[in-house]
Amino acid sequence: MSEAPVILITGASSGIGAATAKLFGLRGYRVVLAARRLERLQELEQEIEEAGGEALSVDTDLNDLDQIQALVKKTLKEYGQVDVLLNNAGFGRTKWLEELDPQKDINLQIQVNLNAVIQMTRALLPHMIERKAGHIINMGSMAGFVATPTYTVYAATKHGVRGFADALRREVGVWGIKVSTIYPGGVKTEFGSHTEAKRKTGITTPKSLQLSAEDVAQTVWSVSQRPRRTVIIPWVLRLGAWLDFFAPWLNDWIIERTFTRPERGL
Ligand SMILES: NC(=O)c1ccc[n+]([C@@H]2O[C@H](COP(=O)([O-])OP(=O)(O)OC[C@H]3O[C@@H](n4cnc5c(N)ncnc54)[C@H](OP(=O)(O)O)[C@@H]3O)[C@@H](O)[C@H]2O)c1
Repeated sequence: MSEAPVILITGASSGIGAATAKLFGLRGYRVVLAARRLERLQELEQEIEEAGGEALSVDTDLNDLDQIQALVKKTLKEYGQVDVLLNNAGFGRTKWLEELDPQKDINLQIQVNLNAVIQMTRALLPHMIERKAGHIINMGSMAGFVATPTYTVYAATKHGVRGFADALRREVGVWGIKVSTIYPGGVKTEFGSHTEAKRKTGITTPKSLQLSAEDVAQTVWSVSQRPRRTVIIPWVLRLGAWLDFFAPWLNDWIIERTFTRPERGL
């Protein structure tokens, strides 16, 4: 069996997950690709293998606990180990809370963005504990620090990921298992096509702060090589997190005037 390290990536069919899979494939990792769109995964698998890497596609719906367990079982059967778990899959529905559909917007968002992160990690943890090694990297979001209107449920899931990761790190660090969370601002991916947002103000991430999927993939690589607890990208957004912590009243005031009132037509 190959000695190359293994990364398991959820949400590998597009955006950040796909870019990270390519990068790790090129840099000698065996890459497990998980998502629902199998044909996309297989195209990526072929691309990685043509570039000299090794990949395994596993058709997985993270809304199904049996499929999460089957993904872990298949990975360990085929590759025998997981060195890095990247909990990356997620989506946002950015509408007012009263407009969110209770099932497909609220329950499903919590399921994929938070519950699946917990269940994936739980399913792999006995393997990592047995090896006394492993690195769990979560894809958070700035919404895990600064919660903005129309991101109620999304922000709840990303704050949840942050709490989960911080507590877990203090549980498993004693075995040498690392836990990191990356908190990007806006990233140019298919994420925006799933939000169903209708905006009047046109407020969006300024171009100068917008990241590419490849930028975030480079950060995942950097964190995998030099584990850190919390990485906010781009760096300047740390100021936003800082402001929200020390002066939440100021953020309330600014956001209500520049976003909520004009968007609600008040
Ligand atoms: N784009 C941004 O501005 C931004 C900013 C901060 C954080 N993030 C976070 O970055 C992560 C990746 O997002 P992205 O920007 O790369 O968006 P993306 O291109 O839309 O990718 C989302 C991935 O999640 C997968 N996914 C969604 N529902 C799933 C389900 N039920 N089961 C399995 N996989 C599922 C999708 O695969 P299938 O549809 O094939 O299943 C896809 O591969 C997310 O956690 C997101 O919250 C994004």
